[in-house]
Amino acid sequence: MNAITRCLATYWSSSIGKKLIVALTGLVLVGFLAGHLSGNLLMYVGREAFNEYAHFLHTMLHGAGVWIARVVLLAMLVLHVAATISLTRQNRAARQPYEFKNTLQASKSSRIMIVSGLTILAFVVFHILHYTVRVDADLAKLGATDPYGMVIVGFKSPLVVMFYIISMSLLCSHLTHGVASIFQTLGVRSKKAQSSIKLFSQAYSFAIWAGFISIPISVLAGLLKF
Ligand code: HEM
Repeated sequence: MNAITRCLATYWSSSIGKKLIVALTGLVLVGFLAGHLSGNLLMYVGREAFNEYAHFLHTMLHGAGVWIARVVLLAMLVLHVAATISLTRQNRAARQPYEFKNTLQASKSSRIMIVSGLTILAFVVFHILHYTVRVDADLAKLGATDPYGMVIVGFKSPLVVMFYIISMSLLCSHLTHGVASIFQTLGVRSKKAQSSIKLFSQAYSFAIWAGFISIPISVLAGLLKF
C-alpha cells in the first residue's frame, strides 16, 4: 500500500475522516467552479480573449496540464460522491428512535443535497458530451478552431438553455448548504462566525449561479453573438 492509499484508508475508517474527505474534495470542486466561471466570463471580453484562454488551457505544460486537471477533478468527484454515499449509509444504520425529530430535519436537508448532487452529476456528463467530447458535428467542427463560436452555437436551443438554468439552480442550492458545511467540518463553529459563514455561502453560491446562467441567457437574448 502506498502512502496515499494508507492515508485514505485511515480517514475512510472513521465517520469524521469521511466527513473531512467530503469537505476537502468539496473545497477543491468549489475552487474549480470559481476558476471555470472566471474563464467563461471571458466570453464577454470577446472572441479573441476566450479563444486565447481555451488555447492556453489545451497547451499548458505541453498539453499535459489539461489531463492533470482532469485526473485530479475526477478523483475529487469520485471521492466526494463515494464518501457521501458511505456516510449516508452509516448514518441510516446508526439511527436511534429518540433522535426521530432531529433525524427528520437532517434527512430532509440531506435528501435535497442528494437530489441536487445527482442532478449536478447528470449535468456534468451532458456538459462534457456537449462541449468537451462534442457529440454534435457542428460543435465538433467549431471546437477545434473557434471555442467562442462553439459556445454560442451550443446555446442556440432554448431546451439546452433551460436544462443549464435548472442544473445551475440546483448547483446553487447544493453550494449554499455545501460551502457552509465545509467550514463546519473544518471546525469553524462559533455563533458569530456562523452568520458570516452563512452569508458568505449564500453570496458565493449566488455569484456562481448568476455568472454561469448569464452566458446561455445572453446567447439566447442575442447579447453574445456568433
Ligand atoms: C454556462 C455555463 C458553462 C459554460 C459556458 C461552460 C463551458 C465549458 C466549455 C466550453 C468547456 C470545454 C473546454 C474545452 O475542452 O475546451 C467546458 C468543460 C467543462 N466544464 Fe463547463 N461550462 C459551464 C458550466 C459548468 C459547470 C456548472 C460545471 C460543473 C458543475 C462545469 C464543468 C466542466 C467540466 C468538468 C468540464 C470538462 C473539462 C475537460 O475535461 O476538458 N461547467 N465547459
